[in-house]
Amino acid sequence: MTSRIACTALADRVMDADAAAALIAPGSVVGMSGFTGAGYPKAVPMALARRIEEAHAAGDPFTIKVWTGASTGPELDGALAKAKGIDFRLPYNSDPIAREQINSGEMNYFDMHLSQVAPMAWQGFLGPLDTALIEVTAILPDGSLVPSSSIGNNKTWLDRADKVILEVNRWQNPALEGMHDVYYGTALPPHRVPIPLIRPDDRIGQPTLRCDPAKVVAVVETDSPDRNQPFKAPDSAAKAIAGHLLDFFGHEVAMGRLPRSLLPIQSGVGNIANAVLAGLLDSPFEPMTSYTEVLQDGMLDLLAAGKLRMASATAFSLSPEAAHALNADMARFRDRIILRPQEISNHPELVRRLGCIAMNGMVEADIYGNVNSTHVMGSRIQNGIGGSGDFARNAYISIFMAPSTAKGGAISTIVPQVSHVDHIDQDVQVVVTEQGLADLRGLAPKQRARLVIEKCVHPDFRGMLADYYERALRNSYGKHSPSLLDEALSWHQRFVRTGSMRA
Ligand code: COA
Repeated sequence: MTSRIACTALADRVMDADAAAALIAPGSVVGMSGFTGAGYPKAVPMALARRIEEAHAAGDPFTIKVWTGASTGPELDGALAKAKGIDFRLPYNSDPIAREQINSGEMNYFDMHLSQVAPMAWQGFLGPLDTALIEVTAILPDGSLVPSSSIGNNKTWLDRADKVILEVNRWQNPALEGMHDVYYGTALPPHRVPIPLIRPDDRIGQPTLRCDPAKVVAVVETDSPDRNQPFKAPDSAAKAIAGHLLDFFGHEVAMGRLPRSLLPIQSGVGNIANAVLAGLLDSPFEPMTSYTEVLQDGMLDLLAAGKLRMASATAFSLSPEAAHALNADMARFRDRIILRPQEISNHPELVRRLGCIAMNGMVEADIYGNVNSTHVMGSRIQNGIGGSGDFARNAYISIFMAPSTAKGGAISTIVPQVSHVDHIDQDVQVVVTEQGLADLRGLAPKQRARLVIEKCVHPDFRGMLADYYERALRNSYGKHSPSLLDEALSWHQRFVRTGSMRA
């Protein structure tokens, strides 16, 4: 027994990854840890993928169903998808191999609001859970678990699963102990009570995960880094988007609608979101707080600079350099970061109460402000809705952002009608591209359309969209949200046929 596994009751269950993977039955539903490439199990999924490949070679293939917190890493989604071992996946994926299988129709994917996963599991809507496979930093003498770099749905998987497999990862910093806040007060209706979190820095739970040692069938020791993908350096479009947002925040402060410290910031995934955080580094706003889903490099920089007083999330999503810096200096950050279960980090009740400023990336928006966050050309999923819906509908201000063009300028990300709707216009208050920012609050559809075309559209497409809108105004069936349905969707079809949206 190592100091990382201090529960003597589990001494006889320490084994290697192959032996642990052998305990997962074909067809099982496996609830795994992992959120945005942090805190996912690494050794057992790879051992299971090898077992599935051997089963394929022997003519007796099998698959499993995978539930997680959100995206994981190549050792989990990548390896299992490559082995053709996943037949069903929830609630979020960004792995390229799994994405191809989802889009080719081979893998079923239930793309969900991330705050809803745990409640739906408890409500019984998702069916039984056979095995929880959870990465932890350490096991304490009483069997409780020190979480690693994400919490996600771990609490729910540990409580709901029939059996538990633990990966104890020595790479995870032992100083993570004390950073987490696991709330055990959730209940099902009609017994639900208010969640007692008033400020983003409130701690309402306990630092460890409960786990019944009797359910633990295997403990595997590992020593492997998280996925930790590098971020792209902000390009001119990302910098321009950040600049428009900073001007907007300054205006809101001047109007008395935001305090100088702003309100708790939620920042979505991706490079643009990270660039906006970089922009906040040189802003006059302080001391800020963050109530969000993931902590990217930009959040750590803001914390280190003292611009951000504290940050609450469910996971890290760091570049290798930032992960190294965090690990080297954990004591400095630990008391100012709180990691929570995703049902709490993304809880609509809390997002509304705290008044979060939600900033999320998008694939495209239409001139009325409906947003597509997930589907390229209406049918090909990129990642998933993630937490964007949890935050957008309930935010104090809900912002969506993207460069005004994609695919080298062949596509306008502002279109007559989105090819898939994730966020309806009522949930979208601000749309921003490098061209400008459209503040849609309090505007009727025709006012919104004019503003979006004027502020957000790339000059190469502005004439086309203005022309479309004027004709829709004259010829559409109704004049509340003027639309020429066939023509609106033909923009996407034109790209599919010719590789460009240009007429
Ligand atoms: N039409 C076609 N393709 C488009 C497109 C459009 N309008 N907009 C983007 N794309 C393509 C890009 O070309 C790129 O394709 P490639 O990988 O083949 O080059 C891909 O989509 C990703 O675009 P990129 O600009 O690199 O994305 P990003 O890192 O800024 O992320 C989203 C943008 C929308 C994919 C991302 O924010 C996301 O997944 N959002 C949903 C989940 C979410 O909001 N989570 C946060 C909640 S806390």
